[in-house]
Amino acid sequence: MHRVIQWGTGTVGSEMIAAILDHRDDLSLVGALVYSDEKNGVDIGTLVGREPIGVTATTDVDQILRLDADCVLYTPRTAHLDDVCRLLETGKNVVTTAFLFHPARIDAADRDRVRAACEKGGTSVHGSGINPGNLSGVLPLALSGMSRTIERITLQERADWSVYESTGITFDNMAFGQPVESISPTATDFLAFNSSIFTEQVWFLADALNADIDGVSATVEAIPAAEDHQIFDHLLAAGTTAGQRWNWSGHRDGETLIEIETLWTVGGEYPSHWPKPQHGWTLTIEGDPSMRTHFMSLASFTRNATIEEHVRSASVATGMQVLNAVTAVCQAPPGFATSATLPLIRSQTGFRRGPRTV
Ligand SMILES: NC(=O)c1ccc[n+]([C@@H]2O[C@H](COP(=O)([O-])OP(=O)(O)OC[C@H]3O[C@@H](n4cnc5c(N)ncnc54)[C@H](OP(=O)(O)O)[C@@H]3O)[C@@H](O)[C@H]2O)c1
Repeated sequence: MHRVIQWGTGTVGSEMIAAILDHRDDLSLVGALVYSDEKNGVDIGTLVGREPIGVTATTDVDQILRLDADCVLYTPRTAHLDDVCRLLETGKNVVTTAFLFHPARIDAADRDRVRAACEKGGTSVHGSGINPGNLSGVLPLALSGMSRTIERITLQERADWSVYESTGITFDNMAFGQPVESISPTATDFLAFNSSIFTEQVWFLADALNADIDGVSATVEAIPAAEDHQIFDHLLAAGTTAGQRWNWSGHRDGETLIEIETLWTVGGEYPSHWPKPQHGWTLTIEGDPSMRTHFMSLASFTRNATIEEHVRSASVATGMQVLNAVTAVCQAPPGFATSATLPLIRSQTGFRRGPRTV
């Protein structure tokens, strides 16, 4: 039995709590860190519409640090390295959807701090999810097992964020609805942070596949909305940013070998000059042989589901990729655990009999 703490109970974190309570009798939830006063002191089961479990959520970080736990499921909207280092130092492994996808390539001082915290606590840290995560890490490596030569790997993510309920991420963090001139890879702390995690992911593939790249460059093109759009409680005004096309390109001798491109829109307008892959994720490996695969997640391919349920399926996938890694991360040697060093992460509960959640 592993004792786990959920840090952040938003869209992704809630799916993880529900999965633990409904399906994981090998995991025991011993705490939850929340940010909002309304959630402070509320039973963790109640937070996700389940029976109370007798453990309440808290906004008190020190209370969480004092808990005895094997692993923290770290899914806040904004990640803080200080928090993660304190968790690691106090003997708690960390799995996260927010950052640390390839800590070997983060800022050297930060990298050394994380490594020292892991050594002090005898712990490991693993960052993953969908993208960055499975589709830009595990899947390309899995497909590359069929490659003789590789010229270029491209992952394109096409997504309309209009029904993504985490509007704090859409508007506050990602700056949709702001003037187009204000969008750049370094414009705000969060945009720089966001750019850094995809840069890290390109490095991850480069290192895992011995691409020997010289560096990773980041660009973004911001597109203004032609008309107003109401997105939950936010008005995205005409003329403000409704599209962001990002590209992170890992190059060697001036040639791109590995790239991640995101084609993100809010409000449903789609620029006519952008490429038009299918919605979801398209992974292309140009080489011998050349391969392409398209990934999408839905609530179901057979049952009727609302658009909200379909969208939520991506949050389920994001959370499960790290929840399913908990046991392997707890068993890993202290330090950085990545998709290249951990065993293949697979479902711990997929076919097991248990309550069905719709
Ligand atoms: N790797 C991937 O593929 C992938 C995919 C999707 C999301 N993500 C990442 O996963 C994380 C969770 O995403 P989400 O969709 O669950 O986001 P979300 O719905 O916005 O919720 C995240 C949490 O942020 C908390 N929060 C509120 N104010 C905060 C603050 N000032 N600083 C830090 N956290 C604060 C909220 O607290 P309460 O607990 O009080 O509600 C909530 O639990 C984010 O970092 C997101 O970027 C990764």
